[in-house]
Amino acid sequence: MTGHYPNTRLRRTRAHGWSRALHRETVLTPADLIWPLFVTSGEGVEEPITTLPGVSRWSVDGIVARAKEAVDLGIPVVALFPNTPRELRSDDGAEAHNPDNLMCRAIRAIKDACGNDIGVLTDVALDPYTSHGQDGLVDETGYVVNDETVAVLVDQAVNQANAGADIIAPSDMMDGRIHAIRRALEMNAHPNVQIMSYAAKYASAFYGPFRDAVGSGGLLKGDKKAYQMDPANADEALREVALDIAEGADSVMVKPGLAYLDIVYRVKQRFDVPVFAYQVSGEYAMIEAAQAAGIGDRDALVLEKLIAFKRAGASGVLTYHAAHVARLLNG
Ligand code: PBG
Repeated sequence: MTGHYPNTRLRRTRAHGWSRALHRETVLTPADLIWPLFVTSGEGVEEPITTLPGVSRWSVDGIVARAKEAVDLGIPVVALFPNTPRELRSDDGAEAHNPDNLMCRAIRAIKDACGNDIGVLTDVALDPYTSHGQDGLVDETGYVVNDETVAVLVDQAVNQANAGADIIAPSDMMDGRIHAIRRALEMNAHPNVQIMSYAAKYASAFYGPFRDAVGSGGLLKGDKKAYQMDPANADEALREVALDIAEGADSVMVKPGLAYLDIVYRVKQRFDVPVFAYQVSGEYAMIEAAQAAGIGDRDALVLEKLIAFKRAGASGVLTYHAAHVARLLNG
C-alpha cells in the first residue's frame, strides 16, 4: 500500500469516462473473437436453431457470406461445425474422411472467396459424423476406444488441412492425439497448419444447444464423462495442457468459458502460451434467455463476460455473439 485515504482515493480515476478509458487495464477488440458457424447441406439454406436463438445453420454459400462479413468486421477466424445429413452418419464416422464432405466444401469455398483475409478453424472429433453421437469409435460396451480413435482423427485432420484449414482444433479429448496429428501434418506437407487443442474440455451440461445444432443430441446415449474432464478438477487441466504443448499444440483452449475462468487464469500463469476460451452454446443461450425474460441487457452482459475472459488471461474467445459484439465494438 502506497497511500492512505484521503491521499489515496481510488474513486478519483473513476470519476469521468475519459479517465476510466485512460486507466482501463484490458481491452476487447474484434481481433479477439473467433466466430463458430454451423454448416448444412443444400444451397440458399438458412435453418434457425431453436435452442440457439439468433444462430442459424447455413449452406456453404451462406457460410461464405458469413466469412466475408467476418472479414469486414475485423474478426480474424471462423470455426466450422457440420450438420452431417443423417444418412451419411455411421458407427465409424467414415464421412469425416470424405474429401468432399460438408466441412471440406465449406473450407474450400471460404478459402476461394477470402484467401488469407481470414483463418479457418476446423473441429476434429467424430460426433457430427457418428450414428451414436460420441466423439470417437465405440466398442461393444459403448466405451470410446482411445488409440483406434486417434488413428481416425489423424486422417480427419489431414483431410481438413488438405482442404485448406488453417487451424486444426481437436475437441475429442483422446490421449496422445496432438502428437499424432502434428506428426501427420508435418508428413503431409502442412508445416504451417496450426493446432489449437481443446486441452481442458469438461464434461459439461452447457453443450446442449450445440448438440442440437450439429444434430448429434438426439443420437447421443449416455454421456462423455469417460473422456471429457470432471468439472471438479483443475490440477488435471494443467497436466492436460502440459501434455498438449509438449505434443505440438500452438495454442490451447479451455471449455466451457465462464465457469472455468480459474482454469484460464492458471493455464496462462503457469505456461505463458496463447490460451483461448470457448463461451459455449449453453452460455450463449443463457444470455439470450436473460434478454428475452427482461432480466438483463444482452449487450452489457456479453461485453462484461468477454472482458472477463481477457482479464483472466485469454488471448481470445470463441463466441456465437462474435459478429454482434464486433458490430458493437466497431460502433
Ligand atoms: C464436440 C464438440 C462439442 C462442442 C464443440 N465441439 C460438444 C460436445 O463435446 O458434446 C460444444 C460447443 C458448444 O456447446 O458451443 N466435439
